[in-house]
Amino acid sequence: MTALICNAIRKTYGAVTALENIDLSVAPGEFIALLGPSGCGKSTLLNLIAGFEAPTSGALTVFGETPHRPGPDRAVVFQEPALFPWLRIWDNVTFSPRLAGKPRAAYEADARRFIDLVGLTGFERHYPDQLSGGMKQRVGLARCLLMQPRLFLMDEPFGALDAQTRLAMQELLLHVWDTMKRTVIFITHDIDEAIFLADTVYVMSARPGRIRSRFTIDLPRPRQIDMLADAGFNALKRDIMHQLRD
Ligand SMILES: Nc1ncnc2c1ncn2[C@@H]1O[C@H](COP(=O)(O)OP(=O)(O)O)[C@@H](O)[C@H]1O
Ligand SMILES: [Mg+2]
Repeated sequence: MTALICNAIRKTYGAVTALENIDLSVAPGEFIALLGPSGCGKSTLLNLIAGFEAPTSGALTVFGETPHRPGPDRAVVFQEPALFPWLRIWDNVTFSPRLAGKPRAAYEADARRFIDLVGLTGFERHYPDQLSGGMKQRVGLARCLLMQPRLFLMDEPFGALDAQTRLAMQELLLHVWDTMKRTVIFITHDIDEAIFLADTVYVMSARPGRIRSRFTIDLPRPRQIDMLADAGFNALKRDIMHQLRD
């Protein structure tokens, strides 16, 4: 079954057309990046997939079902991870199963595994304000992983991080993705980030937001940071830059 299908999606806010004629098809386990300038409708599209809003017209299905509301099968990671400042890292990560009233035995092993996967073992008893921006984003990621979603929706998750931390988080995300094999819809306005992470990059154009072109990123995996300087990488980057500029 296809992970995500968007069929002629259109979204308007009053006189503003945020999205026009969006067609997308994403395979299970695929990592796609939506790349485009600020205001081109990236977050709007993500909000439709998450079920926060409904399209004005067109059809959208996630694993065969139309999302009418947010659900645990579609985890959303934002630029600022919404952590509870008064809860320890362990309680932040395990918030969702605890809220659902699950017994500790049902989630404890997974929580430990995901905290380890994102490199936060030893920080379980810390509070969010004792952690750096990158570490907070790791907490948000571990919390999402524990929800075992079928679709990861990431809206410029590393946009607020410094360049070095950002690269470390990109490598971590690739490692997590390799381990979990889940479908990822990753939004960014950073060309390097899109190419480095994704199997497929969709370039969007602004006003109204449309999908302008699709690039298959056939760089080998696992991706290494050295690739950022490869001829193949730079050729793709040049092509994508032209699409963004025109
Ligand atoms: N709730 C809303 N009400 C009115 N206009 C909106 C709303 N959400 C987004 N828009 C408009 O839709 C367009 C796309 O916004 P957005 O999806 O946030 O872009 P991006 O995430 O690519 O920066 C913008 O022109 C924005 O002003
Ligand atoms: Mg946005």
